[in-house]
Amino acid sequence: MGVFEAVRERRSIRSFMPQEIPGPVMDRLIDALIWAPSAGNLQSRRFYAVRDRQLKQKIAAAALHQNFIINAPVVFVCCADTEIRRHYGDRGLDLYCIQDVATSIMAMMLVAHESGLGTCWVGAFHEQDVAKILDLPPHLRPLALVPAGYPEKVPRPTPRVTREQAVEIR
Ligand SMILES: Cc1cc2nc3c(=O)[nH]c(=O)nc-3n(C[C@H](O)[C@H](O)[C@H](O)COP(=O)(O)O)c2cc1C
Repeated sequence: MGVFEAVRERRSIRSFMPQEIPGPVMDRLIDALIWAPSAGNLQSRRFYAVRDRQLKQKIAAAALHQNFIINAPVVFVCCADTEIRRHYGDRGLDLYCIQDVATSIMAMMLVAHESGLGTCWVGAFHEQDVAKILDLPPHLRPLALVPAGYPEKVPRPTPRVTREQAVEIR
């Protein structure tokens, strides 16, 4: 599958088959997280691959009861490492570490799609609750949850703006 095809065909998946993700496929997802670019190559991000059902239940409750999360065989909890502040000050804290995490997630979502998996970026959750559930060190800020698994149902494409609306040429 070409990259553009993956970009165009990926959908947010909110229902998953119970099938586990094989080890080599998990390795590809993790490599995608790692190989994304980052500010100053500081890689100010850390990920937790949550498989434990009880933990997933607690995380789903912290995510406004988005219970589809529980049925994904793995939920990536994607965290910014705020230690970047030492290098880049407020811009590192407010922008770079967030972008570092976002680039990793997008790369991983595309590799997941290429591998026949579905994912969904979940941003609506209580950060403090998730930090507590996973006993995160204080320098890690959970930014996104990404459940991943084999899709049970693939939804229709969602609408997009036109090229003209998206990009102004000057
Ligand atoms: C920053 C961000 C936060 C999101 N939060 C949620 C969420 O909490 N729950 C959810 O079901 N989808 C969430 N989504 C997925 C969007 O709803 C979805 O990407 C959008 O509707 C476009 O659909 P598509 O991904 O199938 O192309 C989020 C996506 C992004 C990028």
